[in-house]
Amino acid sequence: MEKQSIAVVTGSSTGIGFETSLLLARNGFYTYATMRDTFKSDKIEKIAYEENLPLEVLSMDVDNDDSVRNAIQKIIDKKKKIDILVNNAGYGLFGALEDISIEEIKKQFETNLFGAIRAIKEVLPTMREQKNGILINVTSIAGIVGVPAECIYVSTKFALEGLSESISYELQPYGIKVILIEPGVINTNFVPNIKFPNQIDDKLQKPLLKDEKKEESKVNYANNDFKTNNSSYYSNTIDTFLSHYYAAMKNAPLPKEVATVILEALKNASNSPESLFRYIVGEDAKTFAQAKKNMSDSQLYEFISNKLLK
Ligand SMILES: NC(=O)c1ccc[n+]([C@@H]2O[C@H](COP(=O)([O-])OP(=O)(O)OC[C@H]3O[C@@H](n4cnc5c(N)ncnc54)[C@H](OP(=O)(O)O)[C@@H]3O)[C@@H](O)[C@H]2O)c1
Repeated sequence: MEKQSIAVVTGSSTGIGFETSLLLARNGFYTYATMRDTFKSDKIEKIAYEENLPLEVLSMDVDNDDSVRNAIQKIIDKKKKIDILVNNAGYGLFGALEDISIEEIKKQFETNLFGAIRAIKEVLPTMREQKNGILINVTSIAGIVGVPAECIYVSTKFALEGLSESISYELQPYGIKVILIEPGVINTNFVPNIKFPNQIDDKLQKPLLKDEKKEESKVNYANNDFKTNNSSYYSNTIDTFLSHYYAAMKNAPLPKEVATVILEALKNASNSPESLFRYIVGEDAKTFAQAKKNMSDSQLYEFISNKLLK
């Protein structure tokens, strides 16, 4: 069996996944940089080639059972083991609950929660048999604190947090550890990729939306320049939140910072008898996590309202 550790990273085309794949490969992990659209692999493949890194790009759409199964099976067939899985693929669906369709909500869960679950379930038999493995789930500060305008995104990240905490008990006897990475605002493509209600672009979803009369929809949140357009009953709340959110993005850490924390977390977990680890990334996330820990519910409500809705 191969001695070199084998790592799999989902959503490696850009941002945190891109930087994590490169950093792991630079540190000697044989890294499968998976992405749903391998046409986006040029940049990472060029760097890997120039630096002679142990990195391979593999196709994996975490929304798709067959795609996840095929990718993981290919790795197991070739390397006979998987040591590390980084569940990073995800996107943000923002907006007010009343404005978001069930189809949009299901799609958000499909990627952010079921995508991670799919990948975990595919690697577990191998990790259990080899009696070691590390699962790294990239959640968010939105997995710790409920914030306005992100109710569905927050729900997916809370769910992944709960799943991670829970499975750490059943996986402990098999030497499988779970790491939660909880970033605050990070400067990636996450923001331009945020979906708002009625912006679903999946071909499979279009027939479901075809008959909807868009002109009757009240949703038209400000888009990145946060000029208010009061077409939703909730525009005031959403637009005020977005003005703070986009402002925070201007000084946000780069994804390399998250990748560095992931590498450090891996090293710490490998040398620790513990089973569950948690890393908060970014000063904003640390402030909110502390507030959640130390404040009463009503104090926290005031704190978040003052920070994000004034
Ligand atoms: N940036 C932030 O402020 C922030 C904060 C906290 C947590 N996070 C979390 O960090 C993770 C990475 O986000 P990021 O900031 O690096 O954003 P990003 O640059 O937009 O990267 C997201 C990645 O996920 C991929 N992806 C989306 N849907 C997928 C699917 N069905 N199958 C496979 N890959 C898929 C994207 O692929 P395509 O290129 O094909 O779209 C892209 O590679 C996400 O889980 C996000 O929730 C981000």
